[in-house]
Amino acid sequence: MADRLKGKVAVITGAGSGFGEGMAKLFASEGAKVIVADLNGEAAARVASEIGEAAIAVTADVTVRADVEAMVTAATGHFGRLDILVNNAGYSHRNGSMLGVDEDTFDRIFDVNAKAIYLAALAVVPVMEAQGGGVIINTASTAGLRPRPGLTWYNASKGWAITATKSMAVELAPAKIRVNALCPVAGETGMLHLFMGEDTPEKRAQFRASIPLGRLSTPQDIANAALWLASDDAEFITGVALEVDGGRCI
Ligand SMILES: NC(=O)c1ccc[n+]([C@@H]2O[C@H](COP(=O)([O-])OP(=O)(O)OC[C@H]3O[C@@H](n4cnc5c(N)ncnc54)[C@H](O)[C@@H]3O)[C@@H](O)[C@H]2O)c1
Repeated sequence: MADRLKGKVAVITGAGSGFGEGMAKLFASEGAKVIVADLNGEAAARVASEIGEAAIAVTADVTVRADVEAMVTAATGHFGRLDILVNNAGYSHRNGSMLGVDEDTFDRIFDVNAKAIYLAALAVVPVMEAQGGGVIINTASTAGLRPRPGLTWYNASKGWAITATKSMAVELAPAKIRVNALCPVAGETGMLHLFMGEDTPEKRAQFRASIPLGRLSTPQDIANAALWLASDDAEFITGVALEVDGGRCI
């Protein structure tokens, strides 16, 4: 076991599958204690049990303030501190006309992808300030840097996340809280079918062809980048929106 996160405690939202699951497992293998938070309690429990005693599953909807507070209390209550928060849970409409997205879906996208970052900040920043510092990572997307047609409202929510990241970074720097965004390109997770519109071999080939390194992203790619941002190796890095995209945004 490596120890790049030895002694650290992390809360990762949307950690019941996909990128968040990859982060939870990698962070734990690097010595962190992890709160595996997800709306899907069964998925969170599966991931936490696969990790073992370094992880605790919490069923939490990141759009509900009491749930967000509960996942933070789980970290401080069980492990005594909170060093790393990854706002990773996400929501999207299916690829299609921007006019075809109904109002409830629009609201849900902004509740999960934007408002949750605000709610988490309210709960987490005072804890990190009292500890003398911390790290916040927001899973944004290449969609927020290089928007393509068909995902307009999702793209805009990720642009919001990137701007919030930069503004939080500059405001929280005096408290030694680093805030960065990850911008993955399309990856092999539960959300991929929404981004492609339909999951067919042709669509996958089309997506791969737009990525210079010639493949989709994986949870391991995103977890590796998150690990670096979370670790002390990145102690001078704040306010970046890091593409993990095989060159897609060039
Ligand atoms: N997969 C991609 O192609 C891709 C590309 C760029 C960015 N992203 C972003 O990566 C993040 C992770 O998504 P993923 O691709 O791993 O998908 P995923 O579906 O595998 O995982 C998302 C997880 O978030 C959980 N979740 C959804 N709403 C929630 C809520 N309100 N509260 C708590 N948990 C909630 C889901 O239950 C699920 O376990 C998202 O923010 C997504 O927008 C994904």
